[in-house]
This record gives sequence, C-alpha cells and structure tokens, in this order.
Amino acid sequence: MKTTRRDFLVSGVSAAAGTALAPGKAAASWRKVLPVSRPVAGPVAVASGNGQPAVARALELLNEGSDPLDAVIAGVNIVEADPDDVTVGYGGLPNADGVVQLDSCCMHGPTHRGGGVAALEGFRHPSKVARLVMEETDHVLLVGQGARKFALEYGFEEENLLTDTARQIWLYWRGSQSEIDDYLVPNTEEFTPRAKEIIENNPSLFYPEEPRSAGTINCCAVDANGDLAAVTTTSGLFFKIPGRVGDSPIVGAGLYVDNDVGAAGSTGRGEANLLNLTSFLVVEEMRRGRSPTEACLAGCRRIVENNIEKRLQKPNGDPTFNVSFYAVNKAGEYGSASIYGPGRFAVAGAGGDERHEDRAFLLTR
Ligand code: GLY
Repeated sequence: MKTTRRDFLVSGVSAAAGTALAPGKAAASWRKVLPVSRPVAGPVAVASGNGQPAVARALELLNEGSDPLDAVIAGVNIVEADPDDVTVGYGGLPNADGVVQLDSCCMHGPTHRGGGVAALEGFRHPSKVARLVMEETDHVLLVGQGARKFALEYGFEEENLLTDTARQIWLYWRGSQSEIDDYLVPNTEEFTPRAKEIIENNPSLFYPEEPRSAGTINCCAVDANGDLAAVTTTSGLFFKIPGRVGDSPIVGAGLYVDNDVGAAGSTGRGEANLLNLTSFLVVEEMRRGRSPTEACLAGCRRIVENNIEKRLQKPNGDPTFNVSFYAVNKAGEYGSASIYGPGRFAVAGAGGDERHEDRAFLLTR
C-alpha cells in the first residue's frame, strides 16, 4: 500500500507528539477492539460461485504474504478478463443500449479506506480503477465519464468490452421485448455456441414476467495476521437502463470491511442492497458475535422483511429475486447465505484448496 502525503503528515504529527499510531487507527480511547474468538485459522478467501479461480489466486498470494487487497483484486481480475462470464468485466452483458457499463468497489481493512467506480465504460478491470480511486484520490467514488477520464489518465487502455456472444444475447433480448416495436426476434442459428447456450438456459433474461438477474463477483479475504479486504465487480443488471448503478460500487451495500471484525460482500439484486446497506449490516452482525453464516442469513432476513412492495413479491409474499452474501471474520471463520437456495459459494484456505461449499439459505423456490 502506498503512503499518501496526508498519511505522512498525520504519522509525522503523531510521532512528534509521542503518540505514533498504526496507519489509519484512531487514537480515541473508546475505540472498541473485539477479542478474536479463536486464533486466526490462516488465510482464507471466499467468493461467489463464479469465483473459484479468484479464491485460488487470492489464497496463493495470501500464502506468499501479499496484502489482502492485492490478493482479492488479483483474484477477481481473472474473472473480469474471462469472456465466458457474462456477468463481469470483458464479455459482460450490456445495458439496454448495448453498451457495457461496469461497477466495482474495494475496501482495505488495515487502512479503512475504500474506492469505487460506477457506470464505467471501456475498461475490463473496473476493480483496478476502483483501487486507484482509493489510493490516488481523496474521493471514494467516481462515475461515468469522470471515471473513464481518470482511468485513461492512469494509463488504462480503452477497449470494446462487448463480445459477439454478449452482443447477440442483447440483440435477442431487444427482439423479445415488444410486439409493437420494429425489432423481430433474431434467428439464433448463426449465434456463438455460448450465446445459444445462455439463451436456451435462461428464459428469465428475456421475458418481463420473470425478474432479470444480476451476476457479479465478490471476493473477501483475511490474511494470516487477521487483516481483511474485499472487492466486488460486475457488469450489473442485464439490459439495465443506461446509467443505472447497482450496489457493487457502493461501500456498505456491495461490500463492507471493518478490520476489527470481518468483511462481507454480496451478489444478486443490487437495489435490495442499496435499500438495506446489507453488507454493512452483515459486518455489524458479526460484530455482535454472530458467525459469518448467521450474519449472512441475518442480511437475507432483513431484505425479506423490508421487501414490502407487491410488485417484488410472489403471491405468497416471498421476494421475486435473490440476494447472496459472503463473509469472513477476523478469526478466519467464513460463510455464505442467500435468500433462495440451494446454491454454492467458492472458498480457499481454512484447511483446503479452492472448492465449492453449500450456502445456507432462507427459502426454496
Ligand atoms: N449486484 C449487482 C447489481 O445489482 O448490479
């Protein structure tokens, strides 16, 4: 991690006063430091189900002694660059205008700093740009053209993120939307095999009576010292209104880290997390002593309790959408839960290499 001029001045003043502080630590005597319930179980990384390569890379780096934020960002960079994952980075599904707009944020426990970018076009690694917002500016969030200009200034190369597969899926979506516009449903014969597979297996993408999904990757990690970090990155809600920003670039919604307690992040319907700041809630539940899995379930319960709009409820009152959480605490315990299950999440460390484990859940479909 870089030292800023501000950090330098603060530590200089502290040292001069004989009260040298760890970077980012408050001096207040009321600062509550939670006891760690058991020794740190070694480095652990957790991620959404699409994050198995991410946790594998993150664990490798954590075992080499990397900073936890370096580890999780290097992990999700693999998924951002994968054109077959149509929910993240390069190859992500576009907005309603056929333009890929990416959201991401990250948070670093030891310094309690964070950064994010929203509605960023033209760069496959929004998580790297988010990290630079954190490190190189006094701001937490840059959006749209400002985020683009910032990325260019720091040497990121602009490229077209819309793959043939994502473009064809978008064309199919546009053709399926209405019988009163002039677009017909395209013939899929010439489509890429991946586009055909996604169209065949995901009817909910194209028919308005089904809620559309929002894939994403979140990765949270704790290192061998109990230091924490998290990152979330996404192409957001498929075919969203241009300019729509989800939870993924918003600290507290798409992820949250408190280095005394734990880290949590989320995938699924971003609007639900924006209205409940649920990743923050999950970390607060861990602060109150809940295990990561119990805390993730508490986050799911809060969303369901607050989901009072009829248009977002099934006839029995249950939500029409899903949200999932992933969490690690300072002790190296980890967990995941979603509103609807069953489902799986990715984990590496805590006695094993990268693997999928079952998520806890509140409801079945
Ligand atoms: N959770 C991702 C999104 O809603 O954009």
